[in-house]
Amino acid sequence: MSKLYIIGIGPGSKEYLTYKAVKTVQNADIVIGSQRAINLFDDINKTIIFNVKNLHKNLEESVDIAINGKNVALLSTGDPGFSGLLSPILEISKEKNFNIDNIEVIPGISSLQLASGKSKISWDKANIMTFHGRKNINDILEIIDNGKPTIALPSRKVKDMTQYLIDNGVNPERKVMVCERLSYPDEKIVKSTLKDISNSEFTYMCVMVIYTE
Ligand SMILES: C[S@@+](CC[C@H](N)C(=O)[O-])C[C@H]1O[C@@H](n2cnc3c(N)ncnc32)[C@H](O)[C@@H]1O
Repeated sequence: MSKLYIIGIGPGSKEYLTYKAVKTVQNADIVIGSQRAINLFDDINKTIIFNVKNLHKNLEESVDIAINGKNVALLSTGDPGFSGLLSPILEISKEKNFNIDNIEVIPGISSLQLASGKSKISWDKANIMTFHGRKNINDILEIIDNGKPTIALPSRKVKDMTQYLIDNGVNPERKVMVCERLSYPDEKIVKSTLKDISNSEFTYMCVMVIYTE
């Protein structure tokens, strides 16, 4: 029976790839992922490169290829189960009557875990949130003062997210850590205040840690 493997590739550096991810990719008939993800692997078979614009179409294609009898390795950044490709693949599989037992998730190291490591905050003691791809981010206001630090994937530019918090009554002096391009050679970790960060530029590839005060 052919399988669809959803493979977590970690935060971006080869050092964070698991052995299981490498072996599964090498044994797959077709590997599907972004160019950045595919570049992490050597000795792979046929590839299909996707980009964000046609992501949904490529995900449908991944399921179709598995339905037609090939083993597919679908590459998902970080861990597939945290703001990753697991959710959309489950939806598409349901629509296409692709049996969930033919899906195997190979977990990866999430950007969330690296941010937990950088900030030395246990993630079981934090609010874990993802605003990735969301317009409405009101629910951050419900938890931001619950006494726990918050580790979040921002929905928009970090400066806009910090400005949103300030505009909604959060103390501008509140401490924040921005973890940008974790695991890459140009990784940047900035610890400052909401006010300072709201005046700074970062790429979209960031995790924010918002401290309790
Ligand atoms: C589609 S989500 C995928 C999250 C992924 N499944 C994970 O577990 O890290 C993409 C977002 O994850 C965050 N992200 C992924 N890789 C990152 C990295 N190396 N450094 C900082 N943030 C990262 C960024 O917020 C990025 O916009």
